[in-house]
Amino acid sequence: MPRLILTCGLPGAGKTTLAKRLEREVPAILLCPDEWIHGLGVDLFDEPFRARLEHRFKTLARHLLHHGQDVILDFGFWDRAERDELREMARALGAQVELRYLEVPFAELVRRLEIRNRDGFVVITEDLMTGYAQVFEAPDAAELGLYDNRP
Ligand SMILES: Nc1ncnc2c1ncn2[C@@H]1O[C@H](COP(=O)(O)OP(=O)(O)OP(=O)(O)O)[C@@H](O)[C@H]1O
Ligand SMILES: [Mg+2]
Repeated sequence: MPRLILTCGLPGAGKTTLAKRLEREVPAILLCPDEWIHGLGVDLFDEPFRARLEHRFKTLARHLLHHGQDVILDFGFWDRAERDELREMARALGAQVELRYLEVPFAELVRRLEIRNRDGFVVITEDLMTGYAQVFEAPDAAELGLYDNRP
């Protein structure tokens, strides 16, 4: 049974760090929009471009799962509706689906981002984070129970 792994959490939660470890351990094909957007020379805050790329990645993930390949989507998945869409897509293909939700206290996120901001890849301020925290739809226990997460 192929596995689809979704990373979920706010910036600084450690999603990409975890995704890269799982890429080796599973092993799985990792699709990380931030790396592709940056690698293509596009602004990381270009939301229409990100939406188009993620749409293509979802199609690619469906093909890979169909061929039995394990996939990690490092999208962050802030919206419940989008998580539901991916879970249902994968289940329809007979795949297992894991939601790796990284819940980290706000002050710790800001601390980590202050350090990461220094590498200049992308700068996320505390003001931006405050706005993000208001729109992020954290999964609750009932939702987490819908996934195939291993202990
Ligand atoms: N478990 C951890 N404990 C402490 N620091 C961590 C941990 N995981 C990641 N970090 C550090 O926190 C920073 C953010 O990690 P990472 O880039 O993986 O987060 P992210 O969730 O992918 O963020 P974004 O949504 O912006 O892509 C990095 O500098 C990373 O080294
Ligand atoms: Mg990341």
